[in-house]
Amino acid sequence: MNVQVLNESAGKLVAADKGLLAMDESNPTCNKRFASLGIPQTVEARRAYRELIATTPGLGESISGAILYDETIRQQKKDGTPLVKVLTDAGIIPGIKVDTGAKDMPGRAGEKITEGLDGLRERLAEYAQMGARFAKWRAVIAVGDGIPSRACIEANAHALARYAALCQEAGLVPIVEPEVLMDGAHFLECCAEVTEQVLRSVFYQLDVQGVVLEGMILKPNMVLPGLSCPRQAPVDEVADATVQCLLRAVPAAVPGIAFLSGGQSAELASARLNAMNVRFKSRLPWALAFSYARAIQQPALEIWQGKEAKVPAAQQALYHRARCNSAARRGEYSAAMESA
Ligand code: 13P
Repeated sequence: MNVQVLNESAGKLVAADKGLLAMDESNPTCNKRFASLGIPQTVEARRAYRELIATTPGLGESISGAILYDETIRQQKKDGTPLVKVLTDAGIIPGIKVDTGAKDMPGRAGEKITEGLDGLRERLAEYAQMGARFAKWRAVIAVGDGIPSRACIEANAHALARYAALCQEAGLVPIVEPEVLMDGAHFLECCAEVTEQVLRSVFYQLDVQGVVLEGMILKPNMVLPGLSCPRQAPVDEVADATVQCLLRAVPAAVPGIAFLSGGQSAELASARLNAMNVRFKSRLPWALAFSYARAIQQPALEIWQGKEAKVPAAQQALYHRARCNSAARRGEYSAAMESA
C-alpha cells in the first residue's frame, strides 16, 4: 500500500470545491428509475444514459469523481471510446461501487446487511487495472420501532471496515457509506442519535482493521427527520445537527465528508450543504462535499426520458445541479441560482 498516493487521491476527490457524482445504480435500481419514466430497461438504454452523463460539457468543473457500476465501467461511448477514458479526459476520476447489495438480516425484520466481501480482493485488482482509483460500499441502517439493533450496526460497520482495508491494499480510496435511511416518521433528534452511534461504530471498526483515515472519504447521511415525520426541520437546524453529530464522531484526520442525498429534493440537498458550509466551513477539520446520485441526476433523467433529442437539455440540467452543489461547497449557493 502506498499511503502517500492514497492520501493524495483522497485529497483530490474533495479538492477545489468539487464533489462526487454517484452514477452507480445497480441494474435493478436503474431499471426502477427508468420504468417510472417509461424509459426502456435495457443494456443499451443504460449505456446511452451513462454516455449522456459522462459527456456532459463542463461537468469536470464541479465534479471530481464519478462512481460507476460494474456494467458501466465496461461500457463505451457509441463511437467506441471507453466511458472510463471519456471521464478521465474530462478531468473526472473514475470510481466503482463494489458492494453486491444489502440483504435481509437473519431474524431481524426490517434490517439489512451489505454483502460483497467474498472475492473482493480479486475484483478490486481488476477494477484498479481498468482505471478505477476509488471504490464505494453502502451500508443501510433503517430507523423504526426497536431498530436499528446493535447486531445490524456492528455487522455493517465491520463489513465496511473490511472493505475499506481491502481497498487501501489495492491502492483504491474507500468511500465508506453508512446510510441511516430517511424512511419513517422519526424526529431529527432520533436520526442524530442513530447516526452518531453508527459513525462511532464505523470508526471503531476502521481503526481495528488498520484503515488509514487520511486515505478515505466518509459518505454519510445528513441528520434529518424521517420523510413522514410531522415536524420537518428548517435548513439551518439540519445543518447544525449534522455538523454537531459529525464533530462528535468523525476523526479530524479524515480529509473529506461527501454526503449522500438519500431521497432529498435536489434543491434541499444543495441548500442544506450550503448552510453547513456558510455556518461552519472555516472551523471544520474536514471538507464538507457531496456525493449525490438522485439530487444531481433526477432532473436530467426526467428531461431525457430516453429521447436522443433531449440529450442537450438533460446535460444542461445535470451541469446546473453539479454547479449548484459546487457553489454550496463554497457557501455561495442561493435559491436565485435555480431561476438564473
Ligand atoms: P443518493 O444521493 O441518491 O442517495 O445516492 C447516493 C448513493 O451513492 C447511494 O449509494
